[in-house]
Amino acid sequence: MGSKSELHILFRRREIKGAVKRLAGEISQDFRNKNPLLLGVLKGSFVFMADLIRLLDFPLEVDFIGLSSYGSGTETSGKIKVVKKLETPVRDRYVLIVKDIVDTGLTTAFLFDYLQKKRPASVKLCALADKPSRREVPVTIDYLGFTVPNKFIVGYGLDADQKYRNLPDICYLEDGT
Ligand code: IMP
Ligand code: MG
Repeated sequence: MGSKSELHILFRRREIKGAVKRLAGEISQDFRNKNPLLLGVLKGSFVFMADLIRLLDFPLEVDFIGLSSYGSGTETSGKIKVVKKLETPVRDRYVLIVKDIVDTGLTTAFLFDYLQKKRPASVKLCALADKPSRREVPVTIDYLGFTVPNKFIVGYGLDADQKYRNLPDICYLEDGT
């Protein structure tokens, strides 16, 4: 990433609010009476998760898992490791993964595999953003906020080198050369 990057707004907070509300409606239809386990993938999902669960008016539980790819920078190496385990037994539970963005799909594919071995009742995926142009492995997104172009996006929990998670809008970074 260049030293001078410019921020441009992609989705404003009002639009994000609308998308989260729509997702909450879809999720409510499918998970009411199932006491689902919403499993946030750290760190990118925490803002989205916080807004989403406050629009769900039925019993649910929340846990988080930390995943990291072995590579460095913005390139995904494809080797994923669990850096923070989930604390909740998922056997026979209705699990809803809550993720910031599906990019190559590698972390999500790994997580599906990891969870399926624990014999849950079901595993579904809710993602704030999808960047399909970058996909390397197929991933089914059951509940999707936004499809985004092939740009590096930040804000609303998403980071670039741990920065910008606090931006209330979803922005993209572009080299300001
Ligand atoms: P994957 O390539 O689908 O495995 O995504 C791995 C992780 O990379 C995501 O969970 C994000 O945390 C991060 N990531 C991918 N694309 C972006 C982006 O455009 N902005 C910020 N983080 C991203
Ligand atoms: Mg990141």
